[in-house]
Amino acid sequence: MDKYVIHGGKRLEGAVDISGAKNAAVAILPAVLLADSPCRIENLPDISDVKTLTYILEKMGAEVEYLDRHTVLIDPRPIATSGVCADEARSIRASYYLIGALLGRCQKAVVPLPGGCNFGVRPIDQHLKGFEALGCTHSLDSGGMISVKAEGDLRGANIYMDVVSVGATINIMLATVKARGLTIIENAAREPHVVDLANFLNMMGADILGAGTDTIKIHGVQKLRGADYSIIPDQIEAGTYMVAAAATGGDVTVRNVTPKHLESISAKLAEIGATIEEGDDSVRVYQKGPLRRCTVKTMPHPGFPTDMQPQITTLLSIVNGTSMVMESIWDNRFKYVDELRRMGAQITVDGKMAIVEGVGKLKGAPVKALDLRAGAAMVIAGLIAEGTTQVENIQYIERGYESIVDKLAGLGADIYFKREPDRDMAKLG
Ligand code: EPU
Repeated sequence: MDKYVIHGGKRLEGAVDISGAKNAAVAILPAVLLADSPCRIENLPDISDVKTLTYILEKMGAEVEYLDRHTVLIDPRPIATSGVCADEARSIRASYYLIGALLGRCQKAVVPLPGGCNFGVRPIDQHLKGFEALGCTHSLDSGGMISVKAEGDLRGANIYMDVVSVGATINIMLATVKARGLTIIENAAREPHVVDLANFLNMMGADILGAGTDTIKIHGVQKLRGADYSIIPDQIEAGTYMVAAAATGGDVTVRNVTPKHLESISAKLAEIGATIEEGDDSVRVYQKGPLRRCTVKTMPHPGFPTDMQPQITTLLSIVNGTSMVMESIWDNRFKYVDELRRMGAQITVDGKMAIVEGVGKLKGAPVKALDLRAGAAMVIAGLIAEGTTQVENIQYIERGYESIVDKLAGLGADIYFKREPDRDMAKLG
């Protein structure tokens, strides 16, 4: 029942500090299982997906100690299981990285089928194809547990990915980093979090070359030691504040970012008419003239990220003219458009394409966050709308955005968190 209440129409102004990257953190935490001594991970975002994952590691037997809000010390040595039975594992997508990490650690893994945001079928055939190439067999039981195992050591192999998959690239890296021989992943994902994981593993003693290109070479090593590592800034959190700045006609500097990771977002915002100024570790977004319509097509990195698609579509909903947004990664990532329509947006969806007729203004309304990024889009819609917007289902947003209410309020937004008693409890009480 918790909600965000937003009184729209305020320009965002000032500076906001971006947290560590969710999608890097959820790959790096399972990678800790591969170490033979403790790891200290810094710049962890304080979000529920990370909390869930550290809880799962603890339930598996790891010693987990938060040194402060963003730093955790994890000792994986006490773990004596190759299974993950925590119900929580079903609630996050990234629990599937425990398969690769456990295979790397002990050549077998029993993990629940992953959950996560629902925007169409989310197959894991490329992960399984990779594990098979490394000498593993797999089976799925009636309770939805996937079991993957190898007889003896995993053996390096050449793996060509049929689709560019972040998850499969990361899972295969985790499984092969201690395999026998050389693994070559071709048509690999190039996202910044793939590179961040490779950097972390290399710091632990791995031998990984080519992360960030479409060919990654992994020479298996026998041992990995614990490491101290600081996670990269979150590309999508930064992009969300950049879009919010442009949408409100504001002037915002996003700090603690890697501007190179934001290039596709900066380029699209510049095309729409925002001014972008890059610093060494910051990007300023402001607006001098009117915004212009444009065409957006989501692509694997370094293309425009699918995880920014709902936010940019929301911005385009108020920009004069007809914009087109093509979603080329996920089959069903426009469900949130119905919520935007409740606020006055004129958007038609035809399969994986949205045609957006700019309406100048949105009107506040009660809306739901349908998933993490769709939820961020509802918050942006609330910021630009006339009147009051209440965003429900905020637990989705809190999976991936640290302190979003405080950060936006710090930029001048009129937003607050409202806790409402559960209706049934209220009746009882
Ligand atoms: N795919 C397959 N087979 C597979 C794996 C993927 O066909 O075995 C397809 C998918 O159906 C999709 C495409 O390949 O069409 C890309 O999927 P990918 O595997 O790259 O996605 P993912 O690893 O499940 C990660 C992020 C998502 C982000 C996508 C794309 C994490 C934990 N999740 O998902 O992030 O949308 O990459 O960039 O890293 C988010 O943060 O809001 C989020 C959903």
